[in-house]
Amino acid sequence: MLRSLCLVALCCLPASLARPASTENPYGGSTWGGNNPWGANYGGGPRGGNNGNESDRQAWQRAQFVKEAFELAWDGYYKYAFPNDELLPVNNSFSNSRNGWGASAVDAFTTALVMENATIVNEILDFIPTINFAVSYKDELVSLFETTIRYLGGMLSGYDLLKGPLANLAEKLPTMISLLMLRQPDNVDKLLAQAQTLADILSYAFESPTGIPSNNLRFNNRSTDGATDNGLATIGTLVLEWTHLSDLTGNATYAQLAQRGESYLLNPNPASSEPWPGLLGTNVNITTGLFEDAAGGWSGGDDSYYEYLLKMFVYDSSRFADYRDQ
Ligand SMILES: *[C@@H]1O[C@H](CO)[C@@H](O)[C@H](O)[C@H]1NC(C)=O
Ligand SMILES: *[C@@H]1O[C@H](CO)[C@@H](O)[C@H](O)[C@H]1NC(C)=O
Ligand SMILES: *[C@@H]1O[C@H](CO)[C@@H](O)[C@H](O)[C@H]1NC(C)=O
Ligand SMILES: *[C@@H]1O[C@H](CO)[C@@H](O)[C@H](O)[C@H]1NC(C)=O
Ligand SMILES: *[C@@H]1O[C@H](CO)[C@@H](O)[C@H](O)[C@H]1NC(C)=O
Ligand SMILES: *[C@@H]1O[C@H](CO)[C@@H](O)[C@H](O)[C@H]1NC(C)=O
Repeated sequence: MLRSLCLVALCCLPASLARPASTENPYGGSTWGGNNPWGANYGGGPRGGNNGNESDRQAWQRAQFVKEAFELAWDGYYKYAFPNDELLPVNNSFSNSRNGWGASAVDAFTTALVMENATIVNEILDFIPTINFAVSYKDELVSLFETTIRYLGGMLSGYDLLKGPLANLAEKLPTMISLLMLRQPDNVDKLLAQAQTLADILSYAFESPTGIPSNNLRFNNRSTDGATDNGLATIGTLVLEWTHLSDLTGNATYAQLAQRGESYLLNPNPASSEPWPGLLGTNVNITTGLFEDAAGGWSGGDDSYYEYLLKMFVYDSSRFADYRDQ
């Protein structure tokens, strides 16, 4: 939801920017009103400032507009829907389509981080350690794929940013309190702990004859929906998060689980399931490891498998050179 709002904002931009900068702000936000921010002394963003040219100022201006759209969406969600999964903006109600673990908050975490909004970052950072991943809302099925890309990915990339270039955004406890707490794990450390807890719970998905995971899980009795096959994207869009979790924790099991499932995609059988080099069918039998078809493409259900081939190579070009070749 938050993502599509941001995309809408981007699509609207070219027409808006065609206006002279001093016209009335049609959006009601602060960035577009008042003083002409394109002038020499607007204070500047990272790429603006007195040295920026027209193109730099335009980029900075656009970034401010996207940030305002994000803050509007976040504030509505936080006021009316948090910590549920999503806001229903027409009547300010909420719903839980992603197992009730606060999907919009965890999804928005890295967005708030790259926008460097410390207020929102810390609202989410305080919340994540309180999520109980053992219980799914109304015992609804848990999607291994959705849970990996949103929750696991959100927590791990937030952890990376807060341990690295954006460490200044996490609220620090006053020194006296942190001394009294005798080096208890802080909320940033708890992000990794929560990621590990979630992966430990999810890991039974891979308990199949081949190691290819089941996608739809029932946490209440550690079962699945009984499907005997899984798809290209749902099998092949796990390996980055699970590998990174192993790299961060030192427990190699997460990477092994995801990479074993992935191996049936990197070495597809039967040969007919790869009608063009590297381009695969969609459905894979999790008992036999064999593709069931040769129909695929770049569409939903397939696309992010190809995305993750590239990402694995970018992640570590020596360990994952074969992902590029595939
Ligand atoms: C000015 O604009 C160009 C893009 O047209 C950009 O590559 C360049 O780095 C900008 N900034 C400065 C200070 O020249
Ligand atoms: C809000 O709207 C949704 C449909 O968008 C509906 O399902 C829900 O029942 C409404 N909630 C309330 C409290 O009116
Ligand atoms: C962060 O977002 C809030 C809205 O949740 C906004 O009021 C505040 O101005 C933003 N702060 C910064 C530094 O952008
Ligand atoms: C590593 O993770 C796996 C998967 O959750 C778990 O079963 C195992 O106990 C962990 N190993 C260690 C040494 O913590
Ligand atoms: C698990 O629970 C669901 C209902 O929540 C039930 O339909 C299913 O048969 C159960 N599976 C097993 C293996 O007990
Ligand atoms: C997958 O293979 C098993 C074992 O051959 C078979 O029982 C099952 O029906 C197959 N599933 C599908 C969806 O074809």
